[in-house]
Amino acid sequence: MARSALLNVMVQAALKAGKSLARDFGEVQNLQVSVKGPGDFVSQADLRAERVVREELLKARPTYGFLGEESEEIIGTDGAHRWIVDPLDGTTNFLHGIPQFAVSIALERDREIVAGVIFNPATDELFVGERGGGAFLNDRRIRIAARRSLSDAVIGCGVPHLGRGHHGKFLVELRHVMGEVAGMRRFGAASLDLAYVAAGRLDGFWEADLMPWDVAAGLVLIREAGGFVSDLKGGSDIFGTGSVVAGNEQIHKALLGVVNRPVPKA
Ligand code: IPD
Ligand code: CA
Ligand code: CA
Ligand code: CA
Repeated sequence: MARSALLNVMVQAALKAGKSLARDFGEVQNLQVSVKGPGDFVSQADLRAERVVREELLKARPTYGFLGEESEEIIGTDGAHRWIVDPLDGTTNFLHGIPQFAVSIALERDREIVAGVIFNPATDELFVGERGGGAFLNDRRIRIAARRSLSDAVIGCGVPHLGRGHHGKFLVELRHVMGEVAGMRRFGAASLDLAYVAAGRLDGFWEADLMPWDVAAGLVLIREAGGFVSDLKGGSDIFGTGSVVAGNEQIHKALLGVVNRPVPKA
């Protein structure tokens, strides 16, 4: 696949941060960890990886803005472009020695995500996508799954942290979805969940209480793989609502219907 210069910058940054994460993953018991909120941790590995990505991206494009989970936002002098970065998506998995985590880097241009890179250094899987250029896993083209019915589908979800707004509603959604699908999965790194939908591993996915860095890179992968993605109400305000629903056209529509089914009266 021919990559643009910017996509190459993103890939190099992701691979470099991935090396840092892989080193720390081998020494995970020695890392300093602090608690940001219920079920929400940050370790030295998150901070180191963000420093690497930030340095690499800003070296290549010093005028772009930078929004990362673990550092203060930079408002760029170039008003059109912004990097959106999760240096370690899946911190809880990482700290438990579960090899399901990733560096996620997206490029926003005029409020649209135009490129995304998601790299899991534990499996050496590199997902990349660029608007108009397709989506790839380790240089092989990926496509959304073809299953059209929820009864055949394996659907991923995320479980909101205790105390976040969506926790109670999620239990209702989960019950409704479980009654309709062939299987459910909860892998614990939203960026990879979206990459898995793009690659046809999951037929669909939904989650709420997310931040832009959890989903930004995944959005372009899903679209470039031929999929559909929206917020939980079917609209386009994914960052504003912090929610996402993804799948092929039929699964996306069916999943939206099920997660929005009214709460049964007691
Ligand atoms: C978390 C993961 C998880 C999702 C959480 C996110 P973090 O990101 O993506 O899958 O369920 O809502 O906060 O904190 O590990 O980068
Ligand atoms: Ca976090
Ligand atoms: Ca995250
Ligand atoms: Ca993170």
